[in-house]
Amino acid sequence: MQGKDLLSCVEQGLAACELDPSFLAIGLGALPNSDGEVELDAAIMDGRDLSAGAACAVRNIVPVISLARKVKEKTPHVMLAGDQAKRFAIEQGFEPRNLMTAENIRRYDEWRAGRTEKQYVHAAGEAYEHRGDTVTLLGLEDGHTVAGCSTSGIAWKAPGRVGDSPIVGAGLYADDEVGSAGATGLGEELWKACASFRAVELMRGGKSPQEACEAVARQMIRRQPAASSMACVVFALAKNGEFGAATTTAEFPLWICRDGRSEMRVYKGLDG
Ligand code: GLY
Repeated sequence: MQGKDLLSCVEQGLAACELDPSFLAIGLGALPNSDGEVELDAAIMDGRDLSAGAACAVRNIVPVISLARKVKEKTPHVMLAGDQAKRFAIEQGFEPRNLMTAENIRRYDEWRAGRTEKQYVHAAGEAYEHRGDTVTLLGLEDGHTVAGCSTSGIAWKAPGRVGDSPIVGAGLYADDEVGSAGATGLGEELWKACASFRAVELMRGGKSPQEACEAVARQMIRRQPAASSMACVVFALAKNGEFGAATTTAEFPLWICRDGRSEMRVYKGLDG
């Protein structure tokens, strides 16, 4: 935050998480897909002009949030995918690297042990083992807002599977006229709900951030049976600094950092 613009703060916050191999959630050392490869998704959106950049299903490139920012700033596009996103990253000076570590290899081997080849090669056809990790950051400074998120998606996912996180409107949304919103949890359901866009539009219509998040989560519980099978979380930050969060199920820890001080709040599932 020292002298940097808000976009860089959000990017660097996520990049720091991605580059920490002891943090199994995103980036280097994250839990891989069913082939044992880490595939990453990320996006960043600037509320000033709704400009956004995203990268999805990218292997061997970290921080993928910085690649998303390059897509936003160096191309006329919003998203690049897969090996072509990796090619663009290399053109932009990223060095490909092995994202597997002793710990995520150990966890992958544990998952695969006892499974037939058909079970892990065709894991896409199975119910997901519901564990996934995402970090989503909403930043606000003097009424200006930026949203960013980075994920390795659902652990042991089908190769090529992409969830809500890199999708503008699903995993994140930012509009300086209103504020921003972000999501974490089961990407298929959050995407179908257009969770982040909906939260921002409910705030535009007059709801507080807490009311908006609860309305999104309650509608998901009502309309989407799978939304209670794993946490689907939406959180929102209004341009006046008010914030809120809601989760369909389970518990969700939200970290709030204001004027250099951090606190955590736990939100309980609305299905309880
Ligand atoms: N929310 C992360 C994912 O489902 O990919």
